[in-house]
Amino acid sequence: MAVTSMKSARGRGEPVAPAPAFSPDDIRGDFPILQTTAHGKRLAYLDNAATSQKPQAVIAAMTRYYNSQNANIHRGVYQLSMEATAAYEAARERVRQFINATDSREIVFVRGATEAINLVATSWGGANVRSGDEIILSTLEHHSNIVPWQMLAKRAGAVLRVIPINDAGELCLDEYEKLLNPRTRLVAITHVSNALGTITPVRRMVRMAHAAGALALVDGAQSVPHLPIDVQDIDCDFFVFSGHKICGPTGIGVLYGRQAILQAMPPYQGGGDMIETVTFDKTTYAAAPQRFEAGTPNISGALGLAAALDYVSGIGMDRLAGYEHQLLLYAQEKLSRIKGLKIVGTAAEKAAVISFVLSYAHPHDVGTILDGQGVAIRTGHHCCQPVMDRYGIPATARASLAFYNTREDVDQLVLGLETVKEVFG
Ligand code: ALA
Repeated sequence: MAVTSMKSARGRGEPVAPAPAFSPDDIRGDFPILQTTAHGKRLAYLDNAATSQKPQAVIAAMTRYYNSQNANIHRGVYQLSMEATAAYEAARERVRQFINATDSREIVFVRGATEAINLVATSWGGANVRSGDEIILSTLEHHSNIVPWQMLAKRAGAVLRVIPINDAGELCLDEYEKLLNPRTRLVAITHVSNALGTITPVRRMVRMAHAAGALALVDGAQSVPHLPIDVQDIDCDFFVFSGHKICGPTGIGVLYGRQAILQAMPPYQGGGDMIETVTFDKTTYAAAPQRFEAGTPNISGALGLAAALDYVSGIGMDRLAGYEHQLLLYAQEKLSRIKGLKIVGTAAEKAAVISFVLSYAHPHDVGTILDGQGVAIRTGHHCCQPVMDRYGIPATARASLAFYNTREDVDQLVLGLETVKEVFG
């Protein structure tokens, strides 16, 4: 967790009074799944970068919707429909507040970060990227922030440029500087690497993109759950994230787009609720965000996401981030004592993700043995094959922490790794 972002809640430099200590023991009871077992063992859920667990408040918000609010939105003149519409639009406003966007019309509900990036690549990219134009990505990107741009580049005849990383997994900013040029249309970078945990200097990188005349998209899928986010402070043109990684439901996510840019973008999908008028000769489109929300949206998902944002805000993103950072330091210290274990990704600014390899066991075997001990981690390339290629490895084992994890979870992981050593070492 970036020390800088802990100094000020919204990055505006005001000093923040020290928050009261956070203890996960106070909130673990809110998560039904954390009370369950795996293979008869206490569950140590350490796969939070893949998806987070859900507090009862989120489950209740979605159940409440289906029990007492269910109706389609933006269509009915009857009470239920109007209430469902109001709740959905209130969820949009909740998201706006959470990321400090200027206007709720800058918030588009989508399926997740992946759909948000595809929307921008198809809509904005289709209208603005031409043959010979360049798009800058980084080696750290998840496949979801690579493949849509490759597809666009192929259609448009554009070129992708890639910012390299150093051995610690940090972006090489001097190389980034060299890649920027008048042909650069967009820089699309992750805020936190899902594979290595690196926190990237997005404010600075956005400033550099703008100085070169390019727009900037920040993939916040892994940062929103762990850092306070202020899109005005980052000053990006697009920011995307998924609800399910921040204690919300699956199938709901957010595209933030700067108002003037979103309003100028053509539709992504056609259908109901995104139009002004339709005749067989001509259709005119609604303004953003409706223009980008064709069809019945994920209403219960939006309500669940709003409940999730309320929940984490109730704890406080600064407190939660500070706690996770301490747990990361504890885990890294414990893991670094294990012989033959190498942590992959040692950036100075790091979120609570620990990728590692063992000299004597394949990551998949590590994952399987840990599973038998009740420890859930992810193994594989983490949808980041270019990162694996950079380190010359096919896969890592990855423990990713959340605020509801405890030292006991980490100790259970370490104990499980001792079993791996007994079997393979
Ligand atoms: N992108 C998710 C992960 O890192 C699924 O596991």
